Amino acid sequence: MASVMIPLLLSVMVSGLLGHPPPWKEQQINMLMPGVKPTVPDTYLCKSVKMEDDHTYITGFIPNADANIAHHVLLYGCEEPGAEPGRIWNCGEMASSSAGPHAGPCRTGLNILYAWAMEAPRLSLPPDVSFNVGQATSTKYLVVQVHYKNVSKFLPPENGEDHSGLTLVTTQVPSQKQAGVYIMSTGGSLPSHTVEYFEVACEMTEDVEIFPFAFRTHAHSLGRVISGYRIRDGVWTEIGRKDPRLPEMFYNATNQGISVRRGDILAARCTMHDTTDHTVSIGATQKDEMCNFYIMYYVNKPPTLQVDSCFSPGPPYWYWKDYPDQEKLNLDAAPDTASVIPGTNSPLKRNVSQAYAFESSEEVEGVPGRFNDVLADDIIDQAIEELDPQSLLYLVQELAEEEEWQQQQQQQQEAQRQEMLLRERQRQMALGQIPALYGGRP
Ligand SMILES: *[C@@H]1O[C@H](CO)[C@@H](O)[C@H](O)[C@H]1NC(C)=O
Ligand SMILES: *[C@@H]1O[C@H](CO)[C@@H](O)[C@H](O)[C@H]1NC(C)=O
Ligand SMILES: *[C@@H]1O[C@H](CO)[C@@H](O)[C@H](O)[C@H]1NC(C)=O
Repeated sequence: MASVMIPLLLSVMVSGLLGHPPPWKEQQINMLMPGVKPTVPDTYLCKSVKMEDDHTYITGFIPNADANIAHHVLLYGCEEPGAEPGRIWNCGEMASSSAGPHAGPCRTGLNILYAWAMEAPRLSLPPDVSFNVGQATSTKYLVVQVHYKNVSKFLPPENGEDHSGLTLVTTQVPSQKQAGVYIMSTGGSLPSHTVEYFEVACEMTEDVEIFPFAFRTHAHSLGRVISGYRIRDGVWTEIGRKDPRLPEMFYNATNQGISVRRGDILAARCTMHDTTDHTVSIGATQKDEMCNFYIMYYVNKPPTLQVDSCFSPGPPYWYWKDYPDQEKLNLDAAPDTASVIPGTNSPLKRNVSQAYAFESSEEVEGVPGRFNDVLADDIIDQAIEELDPQSLLYLVQELAEEEEWQQQQQQQQEAQRQEMLLRERQRQMALGQIPALYGGRP
């Protein structure tokens, strides 16, 4: 015990004597729970830390958690935290009101920066890549969230306490490169006992060159293979392809070192097989489906992307063949392997007979006139939420939080106005004016 204490004390004293460390020095920021004793299984606890400096660069994450106790540890960046530093609060999505007052991890400006889960290996950022946080950025606070799945250790007779969390490795020196995540998703639906393609494509319109280095796929139970591509000069290059039934982590991109720049097209396809006896649509619940392809990238020089998502209405309204610039997309060059589950030989062929005969409009969200229910923003927000803790992730995406809209009347009105605009656009989209709306999240 003493031998542990002495170096600890020494380092505290030395850093105390020197005051603020020199800017090039690596600093560790502890975001550990202060000996908490959750008593209800599936409790989510949060702790916030203010990033005092204008800029702090996070270069690494060291998880401190026992997989027997903590199911996951997530690190969020916030504009405003769900509660001030110094408080531990209940921040579970599913926190019941009986469990006491609770707020989400962030009041405003939610980003997800890192996740650790029991099966996930430890994540290191590529060399010279970091997250830029601090008072001069939109990430003014960091919030660590621990999901306590099994609380028996904290109950009698053990009466233990917990210090799970993360230690961040930071520096004041900007790294050359910055990380971000681009999300591709679709709406749409697939009829019973068919194979269908959910396709999406967007042109890169920003003057930013991104380097995809990892990807993640996400579907619920009907997804069989999800693939993503860069198309440059009519040539399709695979970014990633995975069976979404495998652990949904970020995996290394198929082709390391390729870039995506203005004028390139990013395209993704989810091949789904509806083995149920009913039509299944993209939606928010577990009995609905999801089609997501996430691209983790870095840029050699900030900024990262402004528009960081790409959405299509999906089948039966939109396929790659509906992309406005067919010449540029060069569909003939799309790889046959797009619908081949890795490790198998033949592609899963789309076999939906014709225009869908929906059983009833009640059953199917996403049909014209009902498209309001499946707003693109909801789907994209869902895609962000469903970056579940099995993933290692860096997500640099702003989320508008409905709670804030309720609190701030003015913002609420603006939000309503935006939503009306969006609904109108969705309605037009459903009416078939898709090309005009093309290009991702408004
Ligand atoms: C919870 O953890 C304890 C050990 O602390 C273990 O004995 C018990 O089986 C676990 N319960 C579940 C449901 O995993
Ligand atoms: C479509 O293909 C799947 C997978 O091969 C098959 O199970 C299903 O019966 C086919 N459906 C139709 C309508 O041909
Ligand atoms: C992923 O890429 C990194 C960096 O290129 C490499 O060190 C690592 O071994 C790769 N992992 C796998 C599973 O291929």
